[in-house]
Amino acid sequence: MIRGEELYSGKAKSVFASDREDAYILKFRNDTSAFDGEKVEQLDRKGMVNNKFNAFIMKHLESQGIATHFLELLSDTEALVRKLDMFPVECVVRNVASGSICRRLGLDDGVDLSPPTFEFFLKNDALHDPMINEYHIRSFGWADDEAIEVMKTQTFLVNDVLQTLFADAGMILVDFKLEFGRQGDNVFLGDEFTPDGCRIWDATSREKLDKDRFRKGLGGVVEAYEQVAQRLGLDL
Ligand code: TMP
Ligand code: ASP
Repeated sequence: MIRGEELYSGKAKSVFASDREDAYILKFRNDTSAFDGEKVEQLDRKGMVNNKFNAFIMKHLESQGIATHFLELLSDTEALVRKLDMFPVECVVRNVASGSICRRLGLDDGVDLSPPTFEFFLKNDALHDPMINEYHIRSFGWADDEAIEVMKTQTFLVNDVLQTLFADAGMILVDFKLEFGRQGDNVFLGDEFTPDGCRIWDATSREKLDKDRFRKGLGGVVEAYEQVAQRLGLDL
């Protein structure tokens, strides 16, 4: 596979053309950002760990019937993915209250949310990813009714699958963010699933094993991601 021109560079990943008309090369970089790009650092090995972590999770989701953009691992830091037109929205499911919902609704960190709750955010750093609802998505044409339904049902299905995967390895999937896109008539899960975009706690100690370690300056960020991978049985 020949890596073509760089088409887009995000905060932690870059998108390149591939020699397939219907696919891109996604490169996971060591850049780690928080607070809408205000805090950025290079963390050694993170690109490699996240690329392999994402491949493992996407393959597991495919095996459970969830359509994802993932096609194949190309190198330590690169994967081949379906070319998608991304919806500019972020789908968040929360099993336990942490982060922005605690600030917005005055909740204590760590309160169980039963049933899990769902939130849409607009993907826009300049506006600090404001929370939006389905009416906004329809009025502004960010996605149609059918895509909104697919995003909600697939995000809850991902939650069912991954809550079990993490629980079986002694961890709690607190919350996570997904992004979807369209190729032709079909909607696929895109972007990534890595500890950069979710909260994972040790089930006993509730130690943070995700990007909150970076946001809060706790250190041991990539070491925690590696620990999660290892506990899921992933060979990095
Ligand atoms: P929040 O508590 O900041 O709203 O985030 C909820 C979850 O979604 C958390 O696991 C982090 C993830 N997330 C991202 O990965 N990127 C984002 O831009 C946002 C808003 C959330
Ligand atoms: N991903 C966003 C950023 O890099 C938000 C976050 O994860 O804190 O700024």
